[in-house]
Amino acid sequence: MVLLMTRTTVRKPKAAGRCEACGAETPKWVGRCPDCGEWGSVIEVEIAAKAPGSGGLRTAPTDLSRPIAIGDVDPLGAAKRPTGIDELDRVLGGGLVVGSVTLVGGEPGMGKSTLTLQALGAMARNGARVLLVSAEESAEQVRLRAERLGALDARLLVVAECSLPYVLALADELRPDVLVIDSIQTVYDPDAAGVPGSMSQVRDCAQSLVRCAKERAIATVLVGHVTKEGNLAGPRVLEHVVDTVLQFEGDRHHSLRMVRALKHRFGPTDELGLFEMTGTGLAGVRDASAMLLTDRCVGNPGSVIAPVLDGSRPLLVEVQALVAPTVFAMPRRSAQAFDNARLAMLAAVLQSRASIDLSEHDVYSSVAGGVRIDETGADLAVALATVSALCDAPFPSDTVALGEVGLGGELRSVTQAPRRLAEAARLGFRVAVVPMSTPDVDGIKLVRQPTLAAAIDAIFPDSTRSLRSSDPRTQVRRRTDDNHGGGR
Ligand code: TYD
Ligand code: MG
Repeated sequence: MVLLMTRTTVRKPKAAGRCEACGAETPKWVGRCPDCGEWGSVIEVEIAAKAPGSGGLRTAPTDLSRPIAIGDVDPLGAAKRPTGIDELDRVLGGGLVVGSVTLVGGEPGMGKSTLTLQALGAMARNGARVLLVSAEESAEQVRLRAERLGALDARLLVVAECSLPYVLALADELRPDVLVIDSIQTVYDPDAAGVPGSMSQVRDCAQSLVRCAKERAIATVLVGHVTKEGNLAGPRVLEHVVDTVLQFEGDRHHSLRMVRALKHRFGPTDELGLFEMTGTGLAGVRDASAMLLTDRCVGNPGSVIAPVLDGSRPLLVEVQALVAPTVFAMPRRSAQAFDNARLAMLAAVLQSRASIDLSEHDVYSSVAGGVRIDETGADLAVALATVSALCDAPFPSDTVALGEVGLGGELRSVTQAPRRLAEAARLGFRVAVVPMSTPDVDGIKLVRQPTLAAAIDAIFPDSTRSLRSSDPRTQVRRRTDDNHGGGR
């Protein structure tokens, strides 16, 4: 009762509530936080008085704030500083922009700290003054890693610190060209609400760092952890605050790492950076297709090479399939490096349009090397790999398969087919199974097919005959295919 009395008497008209647990703000003090449901966690905070009318913002134009002709704007603000890591510069379209803020997101263990330290080392060697704020690891740990990566340089300054006001003061004092915060989830601003790593802390800290970057023209990099679901408190809430979002992808069990720009205010977002995690850090992969194909077991049934496009980069990947008699009432379709629903659809098309009976079989499919496929150009390869696995007949080792498979079982053309096929030719492939409309490409023979069924017949003429069901609909369809001519 006494407590209640005190609260009522203390409350002032200009006060609002803020939850100490989650940082949510309420228009007035309440006993229970409407956001996180915690009891007694809301405290009263005073709202800072605003200047009447303008809210403290500029109202009369000054020389600095007058609009000018767009051609007269000094473009120096967008000057790029190369990071010295070729693959990273390719993704960034040249380097880090002065005064910009880049968020590097990815699951733990992907190599975010490694890559940023390598880049800092290279930039320091090129004469930049760089500051690494390590809020997760001690300076000793960072030094050990820097030794391993060959990133020891007098211009690379490191501080193990998680207090945001101190970091901002340091940035003011040292005026580095580049500032890296590793990670944004571990820095803490005592003036912001919530515990370290909470949504409100991460957002407030990032906003302060963005302001600092713009005012002092420091290229700033924020490292942020993302979980498998991709939405741990942090990186996702920051995407609209920062200028560039780089995403680290890859399979922890493979050495291949991919870096792509999800958002980029200063360049394209379709470039892909490829790295291999080695004993001495991340090494740029020049010939990605060759690397992805090194471990290929030539002559294995269930393996088909597909020329896919990642961003604007053609990439040859090995699509693998395994078909096993099912023990389930409903056979499984499990895709590892692409959409599961797509595999289920391809299995259904095989069944209904090409009479390949998979009703008693589980189908597993994956892409070797940890690459993820987000496009439909690999459909034909997946379907042919499945057939190859089912009838235990290897797909020809000098052949690639490219094409989207429609629900009618037809093969559809894909974007930039000539570039993909040129990459296949460069790596020594001689034949490509493709949709009818594909234009000729030097150095590779095209086997054009109208339908998936026709492609299967062309590649596996004998092995699939016994698998075909005697469904009358199929007979009709196959006669129609024959009239089509079936490629050349
Ligand atoms: P790290 O950069 O610490 O990942 P993140 O900051 O994204 O959490 O990299 C972690 C992994 O990289 C770790 O499993 C060890 C491995 N690694 C190497 O294989 N070689 C190296 O030279 C370094 C520095 C790390
Ligand atoms: Mg790290």
